[in-house]
Amino acid sequence: MNSANNSQPEKQPKKTKSVKALLPIFSFIKPYKLVVGAAMVALLLTAGINLSLGQGVKYIVDHGFIAGSSEQLGNAILVLIGLIALLAIGTFSRFYLVSWLGERVSADIRKAVFNRIVQLHPSYFEENRSGELMSRLTTDTTLLQSIIGSSLSMALRSSLMLIGGLIMLMITNFKLTLLVVAFVPLVLAPMMISGRKIRRLSANSQDAIADISTYAGEIIQNIKVVQSYTHEQREQTAFKGEVEKAFTVAKKRIAQRALLIASIIFLTFSAISVMLYVGGVDVLEGKITGGELSAFVFYAIMVAMSVATVAEVYGELQRAAGSAERLLELLATKSDINSPQAPRPLNQGNEHDTVQEPEIVFHNVEFNYPSRPDMPALKDINLSIPKGKIIALVGPSGAGKTTMFELLLRFYDPQKGQISFNDNNITQLDLTDLRKTMGMVPQHPVLFSSDVWHNIRYGNPDASDEAVIEAAKRAHAHEFIEKLPEGYASFLGEQGVRLSGGQKQRIALARAILKDPQVLLLDEATSALDAESESHVQAALNELMKDRTTLIIAHRLSTVIHADLIVVMDKGQIVDMGDHQSLLASDALYQRLCELQFDKANEPDISLQAS
Ligand SMILES: Nc1ncnc2c1ncn2[C@@H]1O[C@H](COP(=O)(O)OP(=O)(O)OP(=O)(O)O)[C@@H](O)[C@H]1O
Ligand SMILES: [Mg+2]
Repeated sequence: MNSANNSQPEKQPKKTKSVKALLPIFSFIKPYKLVVGAAMVALLLTAGINLSLGQGVKYIVDHGFIAGSSEQLGNAILVLIGLIALLAIGTFSRFYLVSWLGERVSADIRKAVFNRIVQLHPSYFEENRSGELMSRLTTDTTLLQSIIGSSLSMALRSSLMLIGGLIMLMITNFKLTLLVVAFVPLVLAPMMISGRKIRRLSANSQDAIADISTYAGEIIQNIKVVQSYTHEQREQTAFKGEVEKAFTVAKKRIAQRALLIASIIFLTFSAISVMLYVGGVDVLEGKITGGELSAFVFYAIMVAMSVATVAEVYGELQRAAGSAERLLELLATKSDINSPQAPRPLNQGNEHDTVQEPEIVFHNVEFNYPSRPDMPALKDINLSIPKGKIIALVGPSGAGKTTMFELLLRFYDPQKGQISFNDNNITQLDLTDLRKTMGMVPQHPVLFSSDVWHNIRYGNPDASDEAVIEAAKRAHAHEFIEKLPEGYASFLGEQGVRLSGGQKQRIALARAILKDPQVLLLDEATSALDAESESHVQAALNELMKDRTTLIIAHRLSTVIHADLIVVMDKGQIVDMGDHQSLLASDALYQRLCELQFDKANEPDISLQAS
């Protein structure tokens, strides 16, 4: 349980052209041109009003106070209030529109990323940790949301104010402006220097947070194992390690940020102080009016604040660049398993009305899992599965039985050989078509954190309540479901934790029954049932298997004795096949598998034996 510790080197942020990494995100903003336009108008309006406020200050000081006219002062204040009202309207629109844009775009990105993730080939998830993918969906998109929804508009507004402010400064007093401008490089220098560092630290910080959630997620999911081995303290210590690691990284980042912000504030306000001195002397000497100096200081502070904002946002943009890069990388990931450009139709026999069961043929199939390139999981597999027959796969653990199913469903493609379905290589079929024909009950039943309705209906979302109940009855699940606190509407807990193993299995069976597939794949589908329910479920399954091709994996040979063909597998190869009697007579491995089960129990029904 230390997967969180092996931080993968490939996830380190690559050297990028910094903020440029954000550019592709604009394709997500494009659909909302109108909103962007309206926000721009609001932005320009508020920036313009902000800038003219300085003139108002100048007017009030020179004409109100200095001229000593209360009437003029009153007029000036009225104008000022008018301007401020406009400012309020502008600010409302800007804030609303820009925040809307941020939420909208991040929602779109989230959807796009999720859509991409659910279509990726399964081995992708063996190479990438789920915590990391989750953090892209949540943390990375949230960062982008704050960038688009506030930082970007802040940056735009501040840039406008910066430029406008500088222009107004020049108009107001050229000499003092030169002073201000001389300070600008002083402010920008630390920004540039520490920006790079901050970006790197931010990326590390985000990785560390992802590690934390991966770690915690795993422990929470397996809490009973943790507690039964009394590893609470160990896990606490290990988790502490992860958290402290993240804190250390974050500390470095905030120290950098704090230093940057502090130095910018110090530099800008020092500049303003110097300017105040120079301007003050000019006022004393009567070269400029008090109003002019007031307006000037107003603009100078505005410029200073804008520079500070831009600097801060710049740091955030750099952080977001890392997020954008990761999201785009994920969006650009291609699935290894795809439907062909021009898929062949599933030929289901010649007549239209009588759907014939497919024939499946494994031809010289060799396969190794991507993570184990040197160890074939399947080798020289040649197997023909006739229509409508029941084929049993038996063999020791790790023989490659489940792998056969995974290849059939095209979770992976074999490296050599091919699998055909009604004479078509399955790689030439549409993935959806192919998978629609198959119903699999996996070795470890998977339930979703929802109610019974949802979980069974997963097999066929359009099924009526009656059909769901009928499927549950056939899977021998109806009885226990009825006894649940809220019957079919009972919430089953995350991954169905509120059910026993056998109950989960029956729900999974009901789901497959509801799907009513042409090919039924049962992977130890009844292994967790007691003898009685197994015999009932078995009866239902026998009924179900009648009119479809069935592949069945079972350790309990009593369940496979009646198969049309029993395939004995060992170490990734088919070592023998035949029916029960002939295998019993000829195949040593099958004999051994049978002996181990039947002899000990002294009777054929040894279903109590754990598999
Ligand atoms: N995702 C995977 N990545 C790498 N290797 C895998 C993966 N899944 C299975 N294997 C390996 O492939 C081999 C065959 O596994 P498979 O799951 O097909 O066995 P099985 O016959 O179903 O065994 P069992 O009866 O225990 O379920 C095993 O050696 C296993 O370790
Ligand atoms: Mg298996």
